[in-house]
Amino acid sequence: MSTLQTPFLAIERELNHDHLERPDVIRSLLVALLARQHVILLGPPGTGKSRLVRDVCQRIVGRFFEWQLTRMSTPEEIFGPISLQGLQQDRYRRIATGKLPEAEIAYLDETFKTSSAILNTLLAAMNERVFFNDGQAIPMPLEMLVGASNELPEDREELGALWDRFLIRHVVDYVKDPASFTALLQAQAHPATQTTITLQDLKAAQQAVEAVDVSGVLPLLGQLRAELAKLGVIASDRRWRQSVGIVQANAWMNGHTVADAGDVTILQHVLWDEPDQRLAVAKAVLTLISPFDQEAQDILDDAKDAYLQALAAPEEDQMTTGLEVNKTLKSAAKRLAEVVKKSEDAGKPSQRARDGLTQIQAWGDEILKTCLKV
Ligand SMILES: Nc1ncnc2c1ncn2[C@@H]1O[C@H](COP(=O)(O)OP(=O)(O)OP(=O)(O)O)[C@@H](O)[C@H]1O
Ligand SMILES: [Mg+2]
Repeated sequence: MSTLQTPFLAIERELNHDHLERPDVIRSLLVALLARQHVILLGPPGTGKSRLVRDVCQRIVGRFFEWQLTRMSTPEEIFGPISLQGLQQDRYRRIATGKLPEAEIAYLDETFKTSSAILNTLLAAMNERVFFNDGQAIPMPLEMLVGASNELPEDREELGALWDRFLIRHVVDYVKDPASFTALLQAQAHPATQTTITLQDLKAAQQAVEAVDVSGVLPLLGQLRAELAKLGVIASDRRWRQSVGIVQANAWMNGHTVADAGDVTILQHVLWDEPDQRLAVAKAVLTLISPFDQEAQDILDDAKDAYLQALAAPEEDQMTTGLEVNKTLKSAAKRLAEVVKKSEDAGKPSQRARDGLTQIQAWGDEILKTCLKV
């Protein structure tokens, strides 16, 4: 593994520690940064969107621009005020210091409240990375723009182009697992470690990402497109083209120089357009790419139930329950090993089943120790 990856993986670990039930969103934010793309987070108030975005952005040592848009927002707020000196010389020039045109990383909260006075300039900024100042096209250093919103844009007619520019889309919700909820209540306000990445390292990483070989998975994208078309889900050609960069970045984060099918699963967060298509898209992606993951997950779920049951058994029953659960775990491990083999024989990703196997072995060891006192 190249040392370039080290800080990215460290940041991913740190963020996963501080932000509960957000592994996919965290991966997407890092992938977007590596692929120079934009991410939108949709979700109700208080789902930790702002904090997560800031925690990512602050780790990039560059110029960061953050703004909360309102329907009344003016171009001055985002692109800078008009220069008075310029006006005296009949020039209509903005002073963009500290504003979006000069930022490497940007976070626009309440993104879809964008007023029409800002919209067109924002569209060009996101897609072409240019800012027209007094008739001059100024290149922008923007690496990634993150948007957040409580709702989808209502007026797709007007805001559709903005929505389309967010290649990666996530809907976030309140935490589900009771254990995450407890962790949320106990979380520290200020995380202890904050690994940072310089712009120079980011550039080097982006170059390495571009060199990832995706030729082997391109046919898979063709199949995926056909599957999704059957469901009536059509992504624009621009999105498909840009998806390649997303797969490369995800592969790089996974330590691959040659992308495999598992690296493509991230596209479940790219290929939907309406939130009610999300589940169907995720299912289509996963069925095509890792058809055995669900089977592995079902075995793991059963094993977890048995393991929890053994831990909860009263003292006097621990021996019998422990023996029984030990047998259940052994059989689950055997079934998972079969899934690993089946996946490999079919040339499909087997990571989920492998991870499950490791987990079951750890549970088995714990049962031996706590229930059977071995
Ligand atoms: N999944 C989570 N993991 C860790 N902390 C969380 C999570 N969800 C919410 N929080 C906590 O909630 C706080 C408030 O979240 P934040 O203000 O970022 O929400 P938001 O989604 O941006 O809300 P709004 O839509 O109102 O702007 C965070 O600082 C954090 O302490
Ligand atoms: Mg917020």
